[in-house]
Amino acid sequence: MRIQNLAAFAALAACLAPTFVSADAADDAIDARRGYYQVVKHNAGMLFGMAKGGIAYDAAQAQTFADNLKMLADMNTGSMWPEGSDNVSKPGKTRALPVAWATYPAILEKQEAFKTASANLAANAGNGLDALTGNIQALGASCKGCHDTYRAKDF
Ligand code: HEC
Repeated sequence: MRIQNLAAFAALAACLAPTFVSADAADDAIDARRGYYQVVKHNAGMLFGMAKGGIAYDAAQAQTFADNLKMLADMNTGSMWPEGSDNVSKPGKTRALPVAWATYPAILEKQEAFKTASANLAANAGNGLDALTGNIQALGASCKGCHDTYRAKDF
């Protein structure tokens, strides 16, 4: 089976943990993970803004944001999820809940929803405002769907 995305790497990291994942590596992974989601938020936010009307719809820009999101969703972020980088191991530094590791690979379903929503947006966002608004809800639902289960409300 091909190792792909998210916590897939965590299983691998667990095998290598004593030599490979230091405490600092977990901190680095958390920084990268949170940075990644800030980039996701930036691109998604522009599309949400256009869909709601706060930002003027521009087909080329919408296409770019949607393409970026698809790239981000398809990216293999497994190395950003090492064991020991949850909010119990690293209080105050991350909101990722231990359940993401405890129930792995269940979280990949949420990632799949994000991938599907991004792919649909990449295929439609540049084809007019209606095509964007018709596909934006599924994106928002994919963010919320994962956050509800795997992200703590507060640090
Ligand atoms: C597969 C699960 C998953 C999906 C899908 C997902 N997120 Fe997240 N997101 C998380 C987790 C877990 C965290 C907490 C990361 C941490 O604190 O280490 C997070 C954190 C964030 C953060 C805070 C980053 C920071 O600086 O701490 C933002 C903003 C965010 N997500 C936005 C989004 C948006 C927007 C989408 C959809 C377009 C999305 N996320 C989709 C799981 C997900």
